[in-house]
Amino acid sequence: MQERGNWSSKFGFIMAAVGSAVGLGNVWRFPYYTGTHGGAAFVFVYLIAVIVLGIPLLMTEIAIGRASNRNPVGAFKTLSPDTRWYLVGILGVLTGIFILSYYSVIAGWVFGYIFITTSNKFAMADEQMISQVFQSVSASPFIPVVLLFVIIALTVYIISKGVQNGIERYTKILMPVLFFLLIILAIRSLTLPNAIKGVEFYMKPDFSKIDAKVIVAALGQAFFSLSLGMGAILTYGSYLSKKDNVFSCSVWIALADTMVALIAGFVIFPALFSVEGLSPAEGPALIFKVLPVVISKMPGGILFGTLLFILLTIAAITSTISLLEVGTSYLVDEYGFERKKATYLLGGVSFILGIFSALSCGAVGFLSKLPVVNMDFLSLMDIIFGNVSLILGSLFIAVFVGYKWGIEKIILEIESDGNKFRFRGIYGLLIRYIVPLLILLVFVNFIYETFIR
Ligand code: TRP
Repeated sequence: MQERGNWSSKFGFIMAAVGSAVGLGNVWRFPYYTGTHGGAAFVFVYLIAVIVLGIPLLMTEIAIGRASNRNPVGAFKTLSPDTRWYLVGILGVLTGIFILSYYSVIAGWVFGYIFITTSNKFAMADEQMISQVFQSVSASPFIPVVLLFVIIALTVYIISKGVQNGIERYTKILMPVLFFLLIILAIRSLTLPNAIKGVEFYMKPDFSKIDAKVIVAALGQAFFSLSLGMGAILTYGSYLSKKDNVFSCSVWIALADTMVALIAGFVIFPALFSVEGLSPAEGPALIFKVLPVVISKMPGGILFGTLLFILLTIAAITSTISLLEVGTSYLVDEYGFERKKATYLLGGVSFILGIFSALSCGAVGFLSKLPVVNMDFLSLMDIIFGNVSLILGSLFIAVFVGYKWGIEKIILEIESDGNKFRFRGIYGLLIRYIVPLLILLVFVNFIYETFIR
């Protein structure tokens, strides 16, 4: 087996995990899902999901990773030899590659927007021109493919260099900068005319809007944003030292990730309601139509805008890294692949898959509106792998710990830093009963509403 490496400190681990968690999920997907799922009601369910399911599942993945010191597939093989539980790990590896494929397309657009912003396109832009710019980027038959390639190549390059200097170095400094930049943008957005309408949409829940679809979307978004359900955090946990506190790490990761998402909403929604002709249900294009509005109305907009898209690209890449790291560690640990070869192979596969998503936003008619499902290929990938697969993965992980590996064993692992885990009772209750039941219930209801009724 190859040298696996370790984090230099607990802080290093938290920053890498936060780097994985904070990304397009917070700034692109969270506002887009909030907008298409009824605003504040969605936010409400999302926050509950982060606390009730997110934090316990973060702890669970970290502890499984650290106890086994393996990739997701090897972890299940180590903790439960001669069973089929390792298939959960395989599902995770596949999910990671698929998410990487379309995630990198969006990351590519963000990267492209660096240059569009610097070239002063948004200085006096009206909302129609802004839409045109988005159209010309996303519907082009080759720009998105080139951008996709750049993102995957950067990810492969960083990962092939290894764990510590590969991941930690990039996250420690830049995450806080992104955070403050978003706060500045939120202040500008909140002071635009009509901003209050956006705040209402975002913060004043209409509980009658909560149905199975909204709950599935909110669960999916919580797992997606926290990088849960496919073994990414598990893999990072496998590099964590026994001396570090799993609970406090999990709380920090959840807190940081949720703060960034909430602030991103305060950038998007007030500005959205301050211009005519944009709707919250804009879909995947939402931030690409709203962020330029904020930028164009800001003193020093070009500078702020450029910096924003640079930081967002970096945040996206610290997330793509974790998506690719899962499959990489699997090939390295289980098949003795050389790290570099593993990344090239998996990066190549993601790139090829990603081309379909890249061409599904206007470039190729068929992919842009698939028959039967009536949506574009990218959105379909996002629903299957970014929602359903992560929710199922989390369900399997909870059931594994609750009924196969055992709550006592995971508590021992959680307490291996020497501290008593105060919430062990609640934790056991959540992982054994609440998490699986909630997921099952919501899922059955969702299937019923979409396919049977
Ligand atoms: N959480 C990241 C984001 O919000 C995306 C991501 C990275 C992810 N690794 C993951 C999502 C693993 C699910 C599983 O942008």
